[in-house]
Amino acid sequence: MAVIAQKCPEIDVTVVDINEQRIKDWNDENLDNLPIYEPGLKEVVAEARGRNLFFSTDVEKAIDEAQMIFLSVNTPTKTYGKGKGMAADLKFLELSARQIARVAKEDKIVVEKSTLPVRTAEAVKTILDSTSNGVKFHILSNPEFLAEGTAIKDLQEGDRVLIGGEQTPEGQEAMDALSDIYAHWMPQDRILQTNVWSSELSKLTANAFLAQRVSSINSLSALCEATEANVEEVGRAIGADSRIGPKFLKTSVGFGGSCFQKDILNLVYICRSLGLQEVADYWEQVIIMNDYQKKRFADKIISTLFNTVSGKKMAFLGWAFKKDTNDTRETAAMYVADHLMDDQANIHVYDPKVRHEQMFADVDYLNTRSEAENKELLTPETDPYEACKDAHAIAILTEWDEFVDYDWQRLYENMMKPAFVFDGRNILDKEKLESIGFVYYGIGR
Ligand SMILES: NC(=O)c1ccc[n+]([C@@H]2O[C@H](COP(=O)([O-])OP(=O)(O)OC[C@H]3O[C@@H](n4cnc5c(N)ncnc54)[C@H](O)[C@@H]3O)[C@@H](O)[C@H]2O)c1
Repeated sequence: MAVIAQKCPEIDVTVVDINEQRIKDWNDENLDNLPIYEPGLKEVVAEARGRNLFFSTDVEKAIDEAQMIFLSVNTPTKTYGKGKGMAADLKFLELSARQIARVAKEDKIVVEKSTLPVRTAEAVKTILDSTSNGVKFHILSNPEFLAEGTAIKDLQEGDRVLIGGEQTPEGQEAMDALSDIYAHWMPQDRILQTNVWSSELSKLTANAFLAQRVSSINSLSALCEATEANVEEVGRAIGADSRIGPKFLKTSVGFGGSCFQKDILNLVYICRSLGLQEVADYWEQVIIMNDYQKKRFADKIISTLFNTVSGKKMAFLGWAFKKDTNDTRETAAMYVADHLMDDQANIHVYDPKVRHEQMFADVDYLNTRSEAENKELLTPETDPYEACKDAHAIAILTEWDEFVDYDWQRLYENMMKPAFVFDGRNILDKEKLESIGFVYYGIGR
């Protein structure tokens, strides 16, 4: 919404959230306190905030005044009842829809921005149409394709914008109204219009395809480790085929983030519900491979450190699920930490952007042990050299650029010997580290 406000100065954009702290942070004078870290975001907010971009907790006023409403609430995986652990939890969306239905006095276009299972727009429409006050709602699906860490660039120079609408004259009019907003900066041929269901399904499956590439290359990393092949070389060779392409073929400790796992589980659930068992199993394997990769990495650390990490200090560089974000949802780091903590390792974590309370919240969320035990085994650090001092091993969990530039000689000198590095992102120079004296393990090489 900040980018829309930046690109369309004549449109007033009001972002509302029921979370008061978040809105307070969005309004913070100090732009370094914005709740989301994203390169380029604070510049966009600085330009538009107070001009035509506003943040507020007054949801009803914003609904009343808006001609177009973007529903961007969270749609996590259900943690209870039917579809537990797989289906999307749509309660936040339903509550918003009900609130819009209750408050609106004039016709509105309602845009689904959240990632939703196929045919959700229909449910939203049923709720909205059930008000008998004569207000007309047009529902559009406009899934968001930005990736965290590159969100601003993705929004400003996106590959495409997808707008799904009803195939009626009013539906077309609503789609055109939204297209006009994007046309302020997107070339017309990148604004794709489809029917609502195609749009909803395209978002879920685009994420499934991306995650599948990661799981595919990660499966090969295990095969490479069992043979003489090097997954970096294999990835480069596969990606040089123009039909396959070079992007998203980088191996790692596993993908994280709030979207991939949730969306694939959702896709699997939809397929199962429709009786498409083989299709469901096919996509579920992407998740199974990802879980395997995280566990394989943790197991590799334990077996290399002479089959026990009990009482040993382990340094983690990185906690965010990828670089250039402070988001830790489903981060591989917390699963690897959890596994090592099961073996009573003492984990010291440094991440340039993640708050220390968040690290504790993440391991507590896994519910493996008590909060007190987690506090004992996990120590967030503000200085990377302190995190690595006297450690038996360093594990790289996020590919932050700064890690490459550290003084590795100095890190080595202050560690226990033999000093191990487990490069879960393959960002370090193996030869350089080995020449310093480290025992280096990179994934699939
Ligand atoms: N994070 C991403 O990279 C990304 C990318 C594309 C799509 N999406 C999709 O966008 C949606 C939101 O994701 P997110 O990462 O921003 O989630 P988030 O949890 O960070 O943000 C959702 C916000 O909605 C607020 N909210 C919930 N109910 C509300 C209500 N009734 N009224 C007002 N505010 C309410 C919450 O307080 C929260 O601040 C999800 O469906 C996700 O799949 C996310």
